[in-house]
Amino acid sequence: MQTVKIGTTTLPAVGIGTWHIGDDPVKRPAEVQAIRSAIDHGARVIDTAEMYGMGRTEEVVKEAIEDYMRDQLYIIDKVLPENASHHLLERSLDQSLRRVGTDYFDLYLLHWRGTVPLAETVTELERMVAKGKIRSWGVSNFDVADLEELWRLPAGQHCVANEDLYNLDERGIEFDLLPLMKKHALPLIAYSPLAQADTISGRLSSDPLLQELATNHQVSIYQIMLAWTLRHGGVLTIPKAGNPTHAIANVEAGDISFTPDELDALAKHFPKPTSKQPLATI
Ligand SMILES: NC(=O)c1ccc[n+]([C@@H]2O[C@H](COP(=O)([O-])OP(=O)(O)OC[C@H]3O[C@@H](n4cnc5c(N)ncnc54)[C@H](OP(=O)(O)O)[C@@H]3O)[C@@H](O)[C@H]2O)c1
Repeated sequence: MQTVKIGTTTLPAVGIGTWHIGDDPVKRPAEVQAIRSAIDHGARVIDTAEMYGMGRTEEVVKEAIEDYMRDQLYIIDKVLPENASHHLLERSLDQSLRRVGTDYFDLYLLHWRGTVPLAETVTELERMVAKGKIRSWGVSNFDVADLEELWRLPAGQHCVANEDLYNLDERGIEFDLLPLMKKHALPLIAYSPLAQADTISGRLSSDPLLQELATNHQVSIYQIMLAWTLRHGGVLTIPKAGNPTHAIANVEAGDISFTPDELDALAKHFPKPTSKQPLATI
């Protein structure tokens, strides 16, 4: 399994996404099992948020992880922008901690930028680190200008990761954002790495090159898509799987490596942008 360093922690590079987990009560047992199967096969990182199901997803995470040692896991949670203020952040964090059933998060992200000044949010995040409620903090849906603004703040350099949309359909961040993050050794957390099961463009699951690579590696095209997000290092990829078989396949995709020829073929077939793109989000 490939690894990624976030802050001072080295982690398996395939994590567990949780958006929409818990939405359908009928699916809940399989979803709990999917999270457990991913952990049992080597995943350590769980990505969740107060936004997901308005807290319901965090409660499913709690159920899934109750039999695991807390320090075996690396839990990422996110605060909504409207709660990222002096008055509300700690309350939001406490509620998330209670729903997940833990007394700290390894990483706490500002989910996206809102109207609360960044300096106020960073001050609160730093205060939560000092209180031991979070081990580190980061951001999500930040573009180049957002990171530059962040880094100008006194504690802005303490940010340990930026979580953005990244998959074969959405390579916009490769033009300027990813190079900037590489320069600052800031890892990317790649969200929707499977293009939401190819529901964005709909062109990936029937793509002949992806099918050929999947056949050659004896894996699925989704595993190829996932491995592609990890090809240059410095990336944690967080597929969501409510199906335990998918969850295991995703962890196993962390072992796939491509030859230079395969990477060339993918780069030609899915070209990266040659100009600045607006930051894509979901
Ligand atoms: N920070 C942000 O703003 C933000 C935004 C979006 C997402 N995220 C995070 O990123 C995570 C992943 O993104 P996402 O949930 O949008 O989409 P995604 O991971 O790209 O795709 C999830 C879909 O792919 C399917 N799938 C998973 N593994 C598969 C496999 N091996 N083979 C075939 N299909 C497979 C899932 O089906 P089953 O469920 O049936 O297995 C589900 O329909 C989220 O869950 C969330 O934690 C963060």
